[in-house]
Amino acid sequence: KVLIVDFGSQVTQLIARRVREEGVYSEIVPFQKAEEAFRTMRPKAVILSGGPASVLDASAPLAPQAIYEAGVPVLGICYGEQAMAQQLGGKVEAGHHREFGRAEVEITADSPFFEGVWVKGEKYPVWMSHGDRVTELPEGFRVLGKAPGSPISIIGDDARRFYAMQFHPEVVHTPHGAALLRNFVRKIAGLTGDWTMRAFREEAIEKIRAQVGKGRVICGLSGGVDSAVAAVLLHEAIGDQLTCVLVDHGLMRLAEAKKVVAMFRDSYNIPLVHVDASDTFLKALEGVDDPEVKRKTIGKLFIDVFEAEAKKVGGADFLAQGTLYPDVIESVSFTGGPSVTIKSHHNVGGLPARMNMKLVEPLRELFKDEVRALGRELGLPDMFVGRHPFPGPGLAIRVPGAITKEKLDILRLADEIYIEEIRRCGLYDDIWQAFAVLLPVKTVGVMGDGRTYEYVVGLRAVTSVDGMTADFYPFDMRFLGMVATRIINEVKGVNRVVYDVTSKPPGTIEWE
Ligand code: XMP
Repeated sequence: KVLIVDFGSQVTQLIARRVREEGVYSEIVPFQKAEEAFRTMRPKAVILSGGPASVLDASAPLAPQAIYEAGVPVLGICYGEQAMAQQLGGKVEAGHHREFGRAEVEITADSPFFEGVWVKGEKYPVWMSHGDRVTELPEGFRVLGKAPGSPISIIGDDARRFYAMQFHPEVVHTPHGAALLRNFVRKIAGLTGDWTMRAFREEAIEKIRAQVGKGRVICGLSGGVDSAVAAVLLHEAIGDQLTCVLVDHGLMRLAEAKKVVAMFRDSYNIPLVHVDASDTFLKALEGVDDPEVKRKTIGKLFIDVFEAEAKKVGGADFLAQGTLYPDVIESVSFTGGPSVTIKSHHNVGGLPARMNMKLVEPLRELFKDEVRALGRELGLPDMFVGRHPFPGPGLAIRVPGAITKEKLDILRLADEIYIEEIRRCGLYDDIWQAFAVLLPVKTVGVMGDGRTYEYVVGLRAVTSVDGMTADFYPFDMRFLGMVATRIINEVKGVNRVVYDVTSKPPGTIEWE
């Protein structure tokens, strides 16, 4: 295991991902809890992340001293470098000029840390983001590399296996960064890389059995990847002690509920209750045009329906959820202030307490790409496992303004055509999320010899890493033209198609 001590960098999660890509399990803990985690986890290596603080402040966060005394290799990144240098007796000063963005380091010494990656005397591009810099080495360290703004940019103590650098190896803008992290975990720390999805699957099954015992588990299926993977894993662990419930709120995509039901019942033989509650949901949403009210209405109703169904099947001792690692990582907060709610995402959060159930969250250690790998390992079809994210409130937030069944049906057809063409042209996997929106306006058009007055469909496609920021996808205009033609010809009620070229921020991915 590798312990990652988080000092609050925006990209700490990437360190964990890079390490796991090397087949080595890693966990992130905030610096305040690092001491305890170090003791209980007994990691074979430690990585200190970057962060916004300055070690020159009296109250600056530091790594627990025990980490440096345990004989394990330690890697310091950016702020982590400065913390390490200062804690081990070196000196850090405020830089005369801050370095942000692309820079070059020159390798000035050989080290096992660079083996097979970087060569002495050569220069390499890296991604910097720091103000302070190390000006005096701690005892036992050598300078391994320099950059224009910092003559002591990479430092190392081969004997103690301590290495540190001012740039960020975990981001893609440092082209050989992943290879350096590989060297650190594989060569320097000697870790073998046995963290695979096959191993995870075996271990997770044991854990589920130990937690659940003879208890009954209920799992909500949404049609999304996370809940599906969780359900298949649980079924493998506890068989028919699991019941899945698919609450069909009538806001799913074309034939989606049917496909999910077929897959789970027929291919996996998993007990599944399909509740068609679309009328109830549509009724509750009648005339509701405020996005937040929509979300809350759907969230609350979802819990009510789910609870009623759970009671019908005789209740359960556990509620299974497809919670992922990014939702679990405790974030480092220096301000302590609450963040602003941009949109209230819905889940079945209130249920366990209300129904006196415990939670089973078999995916809470995984990143999204790992969940996909686990899904493949469990035999779920590629086409399903690689699906774009889909929001809990479904198409309700893709029909701005009040929702009607007619509008939803129009949207479903337009969306189906759009996605079908994206897949046919081999673009699906390059796009993080793509969908159609039905605008609440009608515009004039001409078709054949007649005037038309119909709805506008908006198309959205974005690239992103985690949904927090996003760029619009730069389709070829001919592709968009072809999709527009198909939608207008094939979907009754639409006579105009537009493409959304807003990034996030300032826009959000969904329109509501
Ligand atoms: P936004 O629109 O906030 O979306 O940029 C970011 C990601 O979150 C999804 N999303 C939701 N998912 N419940 C969900 O489960 C919600 O209420 C919700 N709203 C947005 C959105 O599809 C995108 O992937």
